[in-house]
Amino acid sequence: MEVIVLPTAQDVGIAAAGMIARLVANKPDAVLGLATGASVTAVYEELKALDFSRVTTFNLDEYVGLAPSHPASFHAFMETHLFSRVNIDRRRAHFPPTRSDDLARSCEKYERDIRSAGGIDLQLLGIGRDGHLGFNEPTSSLASRTRIKTLTRLTREANQPAFGTEQVPLHVVTMGIATLLEARHCLLIADGPAKAAAVAQMVEGPLSAMVPASALQLHPHATVIVDEDAAAGLSLRDYYREVQRNKPQWQR
Ligand code: GLP
Repeated sequence: MEVIVLPTAQDVGIAAAGMIARLVANKPDAVLGLATGASVTAVYEELKALDFSRVTTFNLDEYVGLAPSHPASFHAFMETHLFSRVNIDRRRAHFPPTRSDDLARSCEKYERDIRSAGGIDLQLLGIGRDGHLGFNEPTSSLASRTRIKTLTRLTREANQPAFGTEQVPLHVVTMGIATLLEARHCLLIADGPAKAAAVAQMVEGPLSAMVPASALQLHPHATVIVDEDAAAGLSLRDYYREVQRNKPQWQR
C-alpha cells in the first residue's frame, strides 16, 4: 500500500485529482469508480477542466428509496459536485440500483455492467470514521459484492447533516469489498483528526472485517493520500515520507 502524507486537505484533493487527470489523459475512455462525502469534494473541485466526454463512471453507493432528485441523494451530490461541471455523457454515469423491485437481481446486473465496461480503472474512495468503505459497514464480508446493507447508527449520525431534520435512510446499496478489490487502482483519501484512528487501523492494523478498509492491504495497487491530521495515528509516518522522497522517476 502506497501512503502519501501531505500538509493539508486541499493538497490531498489536488494530488488525488492529479492522479485521476493523468489516467484520463492517457486513457480518455477510462472507467472511474466514484465516491461521495466531504473528503472527495476537494478532488472534484480540481477535475472541472478534465475531458469526461468518453469517461464511464460507477458510483460506490446510494441510499435505498431516495429519488435521484432528493437533495441528500448521492445522485444529487454527484450532479452538484461534478456532473454539472464536466462534459460527461450521463448515459455513462452509473449508480447502484436503489429503486428496483428486485434489488438482488439489480445488484447482480450492476456487477455485470462494471465487468461489461471493462472493469474499473481507478476507484476513488473516502473512509468512514469506523473504517467503512462505501457503505460496507464493520463486519461486512471482505468477499462481498454489490448488495443492500443496513447502516450503523454511527454512519447515520455522520450523514445526518445532509438530511436536516429528515431521517437518514436505514438501507443502502453499496459496491462490495470484492468489487472494490477488483478495481485496477484504489485511491483512498482522508483528512482531519476524526479519520486518524480509521486510517491507522486500515494501513497498519490487522486485516479484519471489523475495519473493512483494511481489505486494501490485499490490493496490488492501493494508494492512500492523507493530510497530517489524518496521518497522526500512523507509526511509520517517517518511512512513508522517505519512500515518497525516493520514489523512482518512472513511478511518479
Ligand atoms: C459515507 C460514504 C462513504 C464515505 C464516508 C466518509 O459513508 N458512503 O463513501 O467515504 O461517508 O465521508 P466523508 O468524506 O464525508 O467523511
